[in-house]
Amino acid sequence: MPPALKALLAQAIGTATALAAARSGMLPGGLWPVVVVQALAATATATALGSAPWWRWIHLGFAPLVVVALQLNIAPGWYLAAFIGFALVFWSSFRTQVPLFLSNRATAAAVAEQLPRNRPSRLLDLGSGTGSLLRPLAQMRPDCRLEGIESAPAPYALSVLLTRREPTIAVARGDFFDIPWSDYDLVYAFLSPVPMAEVWRKASAELRPGALLVSNSFPVEGIDPDHIIDVDDRRHTRLYCYRPAGPAYQQKSGITGL
Ligand SMILES: C[S@@+](CC[C@H](N)C(=O)[O-])C[C@H]1O[C@@H](n2cnc3c(N)ncnc32)[C@H](O)[C@@H]1O
Repeated sequence: MPPALKALLAQAIGTATALAAARSGMLPGGLWPVVVVQALAATATATALGSAPWWRWIHLGFAPLVVVALQLNIAPGWYLAAFIGFALVFWSSFRTQVPLFLSNRATAAAVAEQLPRNRPSRLLDLGSGTGSLLRPLAQMRPDCRLEGIESAPAPYALSVLLTRREPTIAVARGDFFDIPWSDYDLVYAFLSPVPMAEVWRKASAELRPGALLVSNSFPVEGIDPDHIIDVDDRRHTRLYCYRPAGPAYQQKSGITGL
């Protein structure tokens, strides 16, 4: 079951349990006992459904925070504005399970080292966010063509603004699974564990021999990387580097002696 559906179910069961408890006369009077039962029942349901640990904290705090916020008498327009703001930044994260976090300069430098040195090459950043990988890379490798594709409107708009004076960077809005990856020397992913199997399938089907798939922090389950880079930064970034069209491709296509 998708996490968003589990969350909805946990809240619905939490609310039904709290209302049933209130109607049965088991609870002391007032709103807070009902709220506490709702929060506990929603949290217990999320735990039973196997939701990730952070969801349990969200369910525990959700109803109490709604009540506190209602008591603050904040104008409804602020909630709508906050909702629209979050939606523009996180867009389809509830479905893709890929949130927005950004690559740092040290990571960009490590990725620059992986681009072929002897010729201009092409890089694709899957889910390019605000362009925080592409911008430092453009300074480090001005000979390369750097492209990014991002689905969320707000980070995409910011990336367009921030890269407008960078002739070697091109960013587009869309889904990276919908474009071909065959023209790139390096495909960079900083996503989450969830889409990595699909990323691997597409990379194996489309990347040409020698092209590199670099995944920041999230390895492809069950596949040995060609090499791993430990970046010397505060978050101890680890880059998993794969050559999907390496020996497997050569066996598949009968190419030998490469
Ligand atoms: C962790 S951020 C990485 C941003 C940037 N690549 C960087 O390294 O700084 C992942 C981004 O991928 C985007 N994303 C997730 N799935 C996507 C998809 N299928 N197509 C396009 N963008 C996607 C998200 O909106 C998010 O902005």
